[in-house]
Amino acid sequence: MKYGVLGTGDVAQVIAGKLIELGHEVMMGSRTAGNEKAAGWASAHGDRAKCGTFADAAAFGERVFNCVQGIHSLEALESAGKDNLKGKILIDQSNPYIYQDGHITLDPKYTGETCLGDEVQKLLPETKVVKTLNYIGCVMMTNPGELTEPVTGFYCGNDEKAKEAVRGILRHFGWTDTFDMGDISMSRYTEMLGAFWVPVFGQMKTMHWGFRLVRTVKE
Ligand SMILES: NC(=O)c1ccc[n+]([C@@H]2O[C@H](COP(=O)([O-])OP(=O)(O)OC[C@H]3O[C@@H](n4cnc5c(N)ncnc54)[C@H](OP(=O)(O)O)[C@@H]3O)[C@@H](O)[C@H]2O)c1
Repeated sequence: MKYGVLGTGDVAQVIAGKLIELGHEVMMGSRTAGNEKAAGWASAHGDRAKCGTFADAAAFGERVFNCVQGIHSLEALESAGKDNLKGKILIDQSNPYIYQDGHITLDPKYTGETCLGDEVQKLLPETKVVKTLNYIGCVMMTNPGELTEPVTGFYCGNDEKAKEAVRGILRHFGWTDTFDMGDISMSRYTEMLGAFWVPVFGQMKTMHWGFRLVRTVKE
């Protein structure tokens, strides 16, 4: 399958690399066509790896990952183009974080009665937005089996078929335990949960850990 990956940072590199490993074609997108990180990634990953602008990657992908800085997600998605994303699944890892004095707060624009997941879905009403994997370090996103116990792959979105497809992607990424949190408004909970990395990383100095929802029934 063809995937677009919006972003060139650590998350984009991990996701795009895993998609190539799984046999897909991937275009990494950034604000500018000549982005060095995207070009470096593409040249290191063979013929199925390409790079371009956000709009190029959104048009290329049958499915698209959003791995851009959360406070700029809406601008990045605007520039990716609503038409390029129309009818497609957008798998969103972004968080609206502001970093200050060693702590994380949510950008107030995405609190109260809304959250970033809600605003992305409002911006792209004809795109099936599924939020997932935004609450753990990127090193674990495609590598949960490395941990000593199964951890939980949370996801949410409004479209049931899109969520089913994303559950399939999570399984291919190694998530043996997944949990459907409900509609896209549930994004606010993993957007808050992701900020928890600050105290855990502060104590453990590693991002190699995850969350497990202990329960009596599994998906
Ligand atoms: N790092 C993690 O372990 C982790 C874990 C969970 C969730 N997340 C979330 O995943 C997302 C990506 O994180 P990251 O650490 O990989 O990278 P990042 O540094 O947060 O974001 C890098 C990307 O954001 C884009 N960007 C920056 N400013 C922009 C602007 N003004 N307009 C449009 N795009 C802009 C950059 O575009 P260019 O390519 O053009 O420079 C780049 O592609 C974030 O939302 C983060 O909260 C990160």
